[in-house]
Amino acid sequence: TMPTQVRIVDVGPRDGLQNEKQIISTEVKVELIARLGAAGLKTIEAASFVSPKWVPQMADNSEVMARINRLSGVGYPVLTPNLKGFEAALAAGATEVAVFGAASESFSQKNINCSIAESLARFEPVMAAAQAAGVKVRGYVSCVLGCPYEGEIAPAAVAEVAATLFDMGCYEISLGDTIGTGTPGKTQRMLEAVAARVAIDKLAGHYHDTYGQALANIYASLEMGVAVFDASVGGLGGCPYAAGASGNVATEDVVYMLNGLGLETGIDLNTLVDTAAWISAQLNREPSSKVARAVLAK
Ligand code: HMG
Ligand code: MG
Repeated sequence: TMPTQVRIVDVGPRDGLQNEKQIISTEVKVELIARLGAAGLKTIEAASFVSPKWVPQMADNSEVMARINRLSGVGYPVLTPNLKGFEAALAAGATEVAVFGAASESFSQKNINCSIAESLARFEPVMAAAQAAGVKVRGYVSCVLGCPYEGEIAPAAVAEVAATLFDMGCYEISLGDTIGTGTPGKTQRMLEAVAARVAIDKLAGHYHDTYGQALANIYASLEMGVAVFDASVGGLGGCPYAAGASGNVATEDVVYMLNGLGLETGIDLNTLVDTAAWISAQLNREPSSKVARAVLAK
């Protein structure tokens, strides 16, 4: 039951850039989002409305939202951990947000300073306010294939948090392999557990590439019918609360694989690779992805 169309959410401007030590200018962030739109991305995670003391890189969130040129048919979701973040996002013109929980208690504490149950309670008023404002809410679950503090995470624990977020009104649940330790068999066992509670067409895969397994995990997810994947151009990123985690799977690696499978994404690979080269140059490095390196070497 492979899907025929795949939607890619580029999380580079948020998940990618949030981990960069040096502060990146608002101008560069806005241009990155514009370039991703020009490459054909339909969903671009633009910023997060979290505490600037926790993640200084995202402190210009409202300015980014004010300055982006919004293309029709393109969504620009932002992360909101609580009502304060949601209200700021709404004031900045966000029309889609994401709440983010975890399947690991320790990661929840380190990342958002509260237990899983407390986090879900904080999301309730966000869901209510979002519904009143007509804002779509996506739900993230972190540590679905392992936790930097606890190690193994039971698939049942992932399914429980995913089902709770879905029942609260999230339209889609993005399953995060935060530290990229997952492998294809493990990914399928996790998806089986979650799909027993939340329909497979409401799930997205969000796989970091720390151990080089993300493409294989995406393929394993495709085989089970998952049709939405998060990725970041140039393989940017990591997570500030997961030491050693590398970036998300590179968007260009995913698009190249999907093109080969004949799966439509609407994304232009060359424009995407140029974007990977451009943002990597802004960060004084080479693009980390195999596909960007290969295409640029031609
Ligand atoms: P806290 O300290 O427990 O919150 O932080 P608090 O409610 O006690 O407030 C403390 C201070 O923060 C107060 O300011 C609040 O006003 C302020 P002060 O009085 O000290 O000046 N504050 C805020 N400011 C701006 N925006 C807000 C906000 N909320 C409170 N929304 C909090 C709790 C969640 C805010 C904090 O822990 C935080 O910001 N954490 C950041 C977490 C984060 O961004 N992590 C990375 C993203 S998640 C991720 O990468 C995983 C993912 O990619 C999936 C995967 O890969 O698995 C999604
Ligand atoms: Mg992530």
